[in-house]
Amino acid sequence: MMDLLIPDKTHDESRQGEALMLKAETAKNNGRKLYIESYGCAMNFSDSEIVASILAESGFETTSDYSIADVIFINTCSIRENAEQRVRNRLREFTVAKVKNPGLVVGVLGCMAERLKSKFLEEEKLVDVVVGPDAYRDLPNLIDQVDSGQKAVNVLLSREETYADISPVRLNSNGINAFVSIMRGCDNMCSFCVVPFTRGRERSRDPQSIVAECQDLFDKGYREVTLLGQNVDSYKWKSKVEGSEPEAINSVSEAETNFANLLEMVGLINPNLRVRFSTSHPKDITDEVLYAINKYDNICNYIHLPVQSGNSRILDLMNRTYDREWYINRIDAIRRIIPDCAISTDVITGFCSETDEEHKETVSMMDYVKYDFAYMFKYSERPGTLAAKRYADDIPEEVKQKRLTEIVAKQQEYSFYRMQARIGRVERVLIEGFSKKSDKDYCGRSDQNAMVIFPVGEGYKPGEYVNVLIERSTTATLIGKVVE
Ligand code: 5AD
Ligand code: SF4
Repeated sequence: MMDLLIPDKTHDESRQGEALMLKAETAKNNGRKLYIESYGCAMNFSDSEIVASILAESGFETTSDYSIADVIFINTCSIRENAEQRVRNRLREFTVAKVKNPGLVVGVLGCMAERLKSKFLEEEKLVDVVVGPDAYRDLPNLIDQVDSGQKAVNVLLSREETYADISPVRLNSNGINAFVSIMRGCDNMCSFCVVPFTRGRERSRDPQSIVAECQDLFDKGYREVTLLGQNVDSYKWKSKVEGSEPEAINSVSEAETNFANLLEMVGLINPNLRVRFSTSHPKDITDEVLYAINKYDNICNYIHLPVQSGNSRILDLMNRTYDREWYINRIDAIRRIIPDCAISTDVITGFCSETDEEHKETVSMMDYVKYDFAYMFKYSERPGTLAAKRYADDIPEEVKQKRLTEIVAKQQEYSFYRMQARIGRVERVLIEGFSKKSDKDYCGRSDQNAMVIFPVGEGYKPGEYVNVLIERSTTATLIGKVVE
């Protein structure tokens, strides 16, 4: 048994560089301490749990202070140039620790490790070990190799690895929300994206192991799971089913579990276990998935559906395999099948050859959907991607920035609009803990994933559900009071 201590559970910016603390069994303690910090997407944070778990098995304790660590791992992201720059700057800060402790092992994990491979060792002399996302089981051997004076690299990608048996180690200490990885890799080849190269081919995890993990989390008091994958809608698992009829003995057929089936299986664990998921792909999200969301109150009414661009020519260049009309059709289906569903998105501005007119179509898509939330980025050319090979990164930085500023302002308006629309309503909120600003307030999320703040009171505590009457809002938060 082990549990993880992390100061708080949020996502994205506020978690970048967060250190992971794992309280491991002391029985196998080898006297060495691991410091691990993570960058990038939720999948990386989830992977760091797997890494910490693997090393706990070989006797490592974790520390949140890298200056006393024997092993420093940095789990990296390659999605945009600035994500990589951030990691390189951070590595410089470990130089002093290495001078003080020449036996210190410094390792680079994750997408940057996979992308740069042994080049990393040449470029960053500080680094001893480079390990890609499918090679974490090999970490104890790789550390041994470094201990014996060599540098070590394992960036082999796998078609099968899902770490299915290494999951139940949790990153966030609140004991309420957990990420559960349901698949790895991506087969989509969006032309801007480095992920298919750094995380390899798509593979799904056995649904039984997913359900067992979620059930176990629920039994331990967790009340929300977020099912993670680069493209959850293409989740697919084939299992062999033995025939039960006498004449069918020895006959084996195949049963397929798709994402809608998986959602239902997890949703059925308990009505008090909320189920979220990320990320959906507009080309793959089916009405069957939407009906499953609508059927169960505990499958949350919130869909992250990255649009990337509102213009069909740009979508084609991006190799997204849908066009503007298709995306709008999916939005309309969500609105039709799931009344009151929040929708968020990802947008890239200034993709290769994007004109002002085409950019305006992204803006008009935002007007059409009125997203609850959006992650917005300037296009950043990534070496080795299809776009880097085929198209010139020809939109000047100022234009990319101007377009980004415009859509960020637009999104502020719509986030506020969506928040304001909740005023006067009663939201069912899963309490996560004290609000960041004050221990007189609790915070938690609504079904639609909005952050809700309300006064601490008798009779309810973190991990429980309360009904909150919304009285006011900012662009990012709903504020109210608990009602019966
Ligand atoms: N440049 C800018 N944004 C990117 N994303 C992925 N690759 C790039 C890139 N090269 C964004 C997409 C994706 C999100 C996770 O990151 O919007 O959905
Ligand atoms: Fe990248 Fe596209 Fe796969 Fe998302 S779906 S990880 S953007 S290739």
